[in-house]
Amino acid sequence: MPVPAEYVRSLHAYELRILLALERLMRRYQWVPLEVLRPATGFSESELAYRLGRLMAMGMVRYEKTPYEGYALVFDGYDTLALHTLTRRGTVQALGCLIGVGKESEVYEAMGLGVVVLKFHRVGQRSFQSARLKRGYMPEAGHCPWLFASSHSAKMEYDALKTLHPAVSVPLPIDQNRHVVAMSFVPGVNLSRAALAEPEIILDEILDNIREAYRLGIIHGDLSEFNVMVDEKQCWLIDWPQWVEIAHPNAGEILARDIGNILQYFKRKYGIEYAFEEALARVVE
Ligand SMILES: Nc1ncnc2c1ncn2[C@@H]1O[C@H](COP(=O)(O)OP(=O)(O)O)[C@@H](O)[C@H]1O
Ligand SMILES: [Mg+2]
Repeated sequence: MPVPAEYVRSLHAYELRILLALERLMRRYQWVPLEVLRPATGFSESELAYRLGRLMAMGMVRYEKTPYEGYALVFDGYDTLALHTLTRRGTVQALGCLIGVGKESEVYEAMGLGVVVLKFHRVGQRSFQSARLKRGYMPEAGHCPWLFASSHSAKMEYDALKTLHPAVSVPLPIDQNRHVVAMSFVPGVNLSRAALAEPEIILDEILDNIREAYRLGIIHGDLSEFNVMVDEKQCWLIDWPQWVEIAHPNAGEILARDIGNILQYFKRKYGIEYAFEEALARVVE
């Protein structure tokens, strides 16, 4: 759950400075020691203690005694930094309600220039945090793998949307900062929950969109009924952080899996028989 917009707005400039210092120092420290944090912020001991107390009460920063004493940003603090930047840029004015939760994201409606969708990427949060809790350490791959993995995932998705829109029916990419992607709101429902009157038309559309993406050099990589939105007339392909280039060594397999997932779903739910070879030829030719 990202931090409410009021917190982001009521954040004191000093608190923001501490969050930014922690973010920077977490490239080198898993937990940033006080004696490193203090010179980085330039605050007195008492000012720093007071501000850290507030940040911890707001759930943006955590303190740990082991393996050594230090402070770390947690997801709410990282959310706050991203929201702060997106607000300053005018992309977001207010955060609305939660509209989707996936394995590795939370998706919110927000107000910007009209309604926008904010996708907060949360890669590795559970696995890394439980590994740390159970074994008392973080796996290798940097001192703070969730932070880098999540912002990398957001960048990947934003890059894909930039390349694909508007040739492929995807949300319009609006902005990206840290682990958050801002995009247009898609006025449909998940294919998995739709009862289509004319499923053949939508299946054709999905295959045509896979083909257009392929022409632009991109394979989705995680396509299924859960990552397609539909209304009666059209579809949108969403959730792109796992895309691969068509030159990827496993491109063939990945594309076959994407197409196979879609064909299987239309067969199971609507009894449509569409030959795999025919679908593949349609996409790659
Ligand atoms: N642009 C959008 N417009 C409307 N709803 C969206 C949009 N993007 C995502 N959602 C909703 O949020 C859910 C999760 O988003 P998704 O990108 O699939 O993330 P995850 O990787 O967590 O599955 C989707 O199934 C959909 O219901
Ligand atoms: Mg998804």
